[in-house]
Amino acid sequence: MTAAAASGGTASGSHPASASAAPPTPLPLSSVHAPVGIFDSGLGGLSVLRAVRAQLPGEALVYVADSLYAPYGERDDDFIADRTLAIGQWLVKQGAKVLIVACNTATAQSIALVRERLPIPLIGVEPGVKPAALQSKTRIAGVLATQVTLRSARFQDLLQRHAADCRFLCQPGHGLVQAVERCDVGSAELRALLKSYLQPMLDEGADTLVLGCTHYPFLDAAIRDIVGDRLTLIDTSVAIARQLERVLDQHGLRAASNTKPVVAPRFFSTSDGAHLQQLAETLLHLAAPVEHAHIPSRRTAAPDAQAV
Ligand code: DGL
Repeated sequence: MTAAAASGGTASGSHPASASAAPPTPLPLSSVHAPVGIFDSGLGGLSVLRAVRAQLPGEALVYVADSLYAPYGERDDDFIADRTLAIGQWLVKQGAKVLIVACNTATAQSIALVRERLPIPLIGVEPGVKPAALQSKTRIAGVLATQVTLRSARFQDLLQRHAADCRFLCQPGHGLVQAVERCDVGSAELRALLKSYLQPMLDEGADTLVLGCTHYPFLDAAIRDIVGDRLTLIDTSVAIARQLERVLDQHGLRAASNTKPVVAPRFFSTSDGAHLQQLAETLLHLAAPVEHAHIPSRRTAAPDAQAV
């Protein structure tokens, strides 16, 4: 992939379970052999899984795509927090030793709450504003992310802390998650949509583009076709994999390293899983079966819970 790895530690860090009003679930008998849980609203977290497999090939991985309820960027804040918590709890029950919330939108909206409720270390993701500000020469950078991420207090705080003298052009990527969810990473319609988002950034003089959603690294070839080498792409998946390594080491949970992945990841989807299987095969060259996961939550019992 062409995206530049963020080196600024933009993955949010590990926090052991903290005291909360909710009854603490007993710590599972975590061991180095337990899997790392990775979750996204849909298929985007596969870009993080790819980086984790490259960095830590000895780790067993369990991936959950909440595709039945994607995109989260069209959901309200409570819905996103409800699903993130339910899936985190489900992964804890599967024995996950660490959870990566491989979704900028879910991290922006719910990481603090979920961190309080889960008994395992959590790693969230956030747009690579810091590495973009460090490396932009024109001091103008674009950010493509979901509307929910861009309007979140967490993202606004990130901009305040790291934007420095850099101007960030923030563009909601309406329609892009839906395209990746149907395995469209290069149709004419998708390219036209991407161009409508990227051309104004080029016109303004941006030289850097933050991919602020884990689905977007799968669009890197289409983005390259439009922007050539005028924009450096910032993708934080490699930084997240490095952060995972640090967290596993801090907790004495890192599996023995191997040079090649020992076991295939286990893939779960709350939908039928066909597109997860297709994307894993075509883009990650991973031919693993996808299992169905029924993960109920407070809000999905409500009448507005249908797929958007
Ligand atoms: N991959 C998610 C993210 O990083 C997509 C959010 C959505 O489902 O809208 O934000």
